[in-house]
Amino acid sequence: MAGNNSLHAANKAKEDEFYTELSDIENELKHYKEHFRGKTVLCNCDDPRISNFFHYFSYNFEQLGLKKLITTCYKSQERDLFSQNNSERAIWLEYTGDRNGNRVPDPEEIGINYLKGDGDFRSEECVELLKQADIVVTNPPFSLFREYVAQLMKYNKKFVILGNQNAITYKEIFSFIKANELWLGSTLSFAKFRVPDYYEPRATRFWVDETGQKWRSMGNICWFTNLDIAKRHEELILYKSYNEEEYPHYDNYNAINVNKVSEIPMDFEGVMGVPITFLDKYNPEQFEIVKFRKGDDDKDLSINGKCPYFRILIRRKQPTAYAQPEEQLQQAAEPRNKYNGK
Ligand SMILES: C[S@@+](CC[C@H](N)C(=O)[O-])C[C@H]1O[C@@H](n2cnc3c(N)ncnc32)[C@H](O)[C@@H]1O
Repeated sequence: MAGNNSLHAANKAKEDEFYTELSDIENELKHYKEHFRGKTVLCNCDDPRISNFFHYFSYNFEQLGLKKLITTCYKSQERDLFSQNNSERAIWLEYTGDRNGNRVPDPEEIGINYLKGDGDFRSEECVELLKQADIVVTNPPFSLFREYVAQLMKYNKKFVILGNQNAITYKEIFSFIKANELWLGSTLSFAKFRVPDYYEPRATRFWVDETGQKWRSMGNICWFTNLDIAKRHEELILYKSYNEEEYPHYDNYNAINVNKVSEIPMDFEGVMGVPITFLDKYNPEQFEIVKFRKGDDDKDLSINGKCPYFRILIRRKQPTAYAQPEEQLQQAAEPRNKYNGK
């Protein structure tokens, strides 16, 4: 790779190195317990000597009723070196449960195998391990998130993975969300992530603890999954009523703008543009997703020429007792633009 490009790739790889806390994993995975019984779980971006995903599944193996746990590591072999892609060989581990009755995954119960390549999740040998898996659970490299999700979809895998909330706005990811093939997990808050020693101090959201361990916090992380969770069936309780003043019509799409998810009118039956935080409350039995961000002219949705931050166009699925659909749609379409003939 030529100078600037390889430097850019190296910087991206460095940004990919941060480690998930056990408490964050526990908080999310407690919502999926029934999915794991009898299943093979793969953590494919995880140095098992460091990864709390490996820790969680190996220590809860019997309780979850797992069949097998497979973990692959991306080239790192040094216990206290984090996976910096700079060691000789990558490994994969296989754990099939406690054999000596102490309910703890002992080293002699964990099968250690060497990979021929560097443990890249896209490599042929890692794809072979992926094929064995029922559910993939990890925090993958964010810089490869599109490819990572595309591969899971290609092999028709169930998954619970961490990603940046911005990934929602990626065209490929949004189309999976719209098709109800991927959705947000249960929890949204992450206190902190461990980072390697080489990590450059940042002005904000970065600190070093009393042991010298470096940490960073990130406010924009969320879980993505295609496993069913209770939250996906919870009805969003709405209390506001539609009125023309508060819910202006877009210039370039036949829909109204809603500034806060909690303010989605309970009695509007047409299309509504809502902030992307809606996805955290999205129940596909209550709403359908119509489109993302763009109007009929393929430009960002606008109101009197001004564009609100990314909007998702949605529509209620079940009509409510309050709604007067025909009248509303007519009202909403009246004020301006091509919908009233301008
Ligand atoms: C965000 S970190 C998370 C690590 C671990 N899963 C955790 O949650 O603590 C992403 C990890 O993916 C590894 N990685 C980067 N590129 C990879 C690739 N092509 N294939 C597999 N793993 C990769 C990195 O070394 C890094 O450790």
